[in-house]
Amino acid sequence: MDFSDVVRTTGAVRRFRADPVPDAVLARVFDNARFAPSGGNRQGWHVVLARSEPVRRALRELSFEGWTEYAAYVAADRVPFAPDDDGRWRRPPSDVDFSTPAPRNRFVEELERAPVIAVLAVDLRQLAVTDADLPRQSIVGGGSVYPFAQNILLSARNEDLGGVMTTFLCRREAQVKELLGLPRPYAVAAMLALGYPEHHPRRLTRRPVPDFVTFDHFEGEGLAGLPESR
Ligand SMILES: Cc1cc2nc3c(=O)[nH]c(=O)nc-3n(C[C@H](O)[C@H](O)[C@H](O)COP(=O)(O)O)c2cc1C
Repeated sequence: MDFSDVVRTTGAVRRFRADPVPDAVLARVFDNARFAPSGGNRQGWHVVLARSEPVRRALRELSFEGWTEYAAYVAADRVPFAPDDDGRWRRPPSDVDFSTPAPRNRFVEELERAPVIAVLAVDLRQLAVTDADLPRQSIVGGGSVYPFAQNILLSARNEDLGGVMTTFLCRREAQVKELLGLPRPYAVAAMLALGYPEHHPRRLTRRPVPDFVTFDHFEGEGLAGLPESR
């Protein structure tokens, strides 16, 4: 595929056809994705592909628990798990009620039927976390694993697959680590569902360039976007 078509149509896909994804296709996806950057080129990632029914079921159940917590924030009109204005994460606000039953989430309910379920783990000892001691939520460490996750999604799109990265499982990291036998220094970064989509997204909703690229100052003049860009 043309590069621009790939990046502009790799949107979240949560509904898949039943067709299996051949291992040879998956191998190509990961073979391209592995060229992702990571701090110090440490490449601390590990992918566990969930194939067995009990493992898939457990991942669905744990994802549902994460979804329930996420939905509680949404119900309280809050950005789920967002740090405060000072950039620090604190306890959930008192108006977030985790006992509220979550609305249905068809993607999670049908997760076991996703042709590919890939849990992305990362060895924390391999992360160069240059902002670890700042008095705010650390963000740099994730930069050594999420480019790899996005590369998986882009490479999948190039194979006519679709998929989505989810982080619901991070809410139940201890159980996921036990389930998958992840060694102690590993963290759960994401779970990706992949498959041949019922529909590829055609047009993604994204902010235009002048909104987020400015000269000299945060409030500076925005870089002019391309007139033909939609
Ligand atoms: C760091 C990260 C975490 C995400 N976590 C979840 C998740 O837990 N569940 C989910 O359904 N989608 C998750 N997504 C997918 C986003 O919802 C999706 O990329 C975004 O809404 C854009 O959707 P679109 O490509 O359809 O426009 C996550 C995406 C990112 C980058």
